[in-house]
Amino acid sequence: MNLDLFSTTTDDGVIKTQIAEQAWHLADLVHAQDEQIKVLLREIIQQAPLRQMVTPGGQLMSVSMTSCGDFGWVSDQAGYRYQSLDPRSNLPWPNMPALFKTLAKEAAEKVGFENFEPDSCLINCYAIGTRLSLHQDKNEVDFSHPIVSVSLGLPATFLFGGLQRNAPQTRLALQHGDIVVWGGLSRLAYHGVLPLAAGEHGLFGQQRINLTFRKSH
Ligand code: SIN
Ligand code: FE2
Repeated sequence: MNLDLFSTTTDDGVIKTQIAEQAWHLADLVHAQDEQIKVLLREIIQQAPLRQMVTPGGQLMSVSMTSCGDFGWVSDQAGYRYQSLDPRSNLPWPNMPALFKTLAKEAAEKVGFENFEPDSCLINCYAIGTRLSLHQDKNEVDFSHPIVSVSLGLPATFLFGGLQRNAPQTRLALQHGDIVVWGGLSRLAYHGVLPLAAGEHGLFGQQRINLTFRKSH
């Protein structure tokens, strides 16, 4: 379903579109920080390389992932969970850069979620053709905190549904620099990403990177 989405411009010039109850799309929020983010990501990925994880059902996920922050999201045959150590190295995940935390906090604040303190940033890397099937983010301890999701690189189509898997979905085009924030009544909304269309992004090349900030504990 494509709702007629209504956009407004906030005091600081950000184009804000409400996509559901307590769920918003913020256009082009990353602005001038993208090159710095790329450098920081390279450092994180050197310490905790991107890897394809296996679902509890034994399927290899097509998106490559890693994390930074106090906790990282992991999946294997034992289940989905957050861990303070990277299972690949048994070392703590790389620190969450201050720039990342500030970006996530500011985005949350713009749509009314004050004092968001993410302790985990999941880094999803989509190659051409990869997708993320419909799911809920529900491995966190307390659902009163929002999810802040930053898009970098190639554009993607984001599906944002309801609290039931079969609820109608809104399709959103996510561009480099866009942020989606959802919480409150939409905190457990099903969401996913359609297969990434081929293309070449000036800074990130033939891929899309997504940063998902959560307060996991
Ligand atoms: C996710 O749901 O973890 C990622 C969403 C996205 O890549 O936009
Ligand atoms: Fe998710």
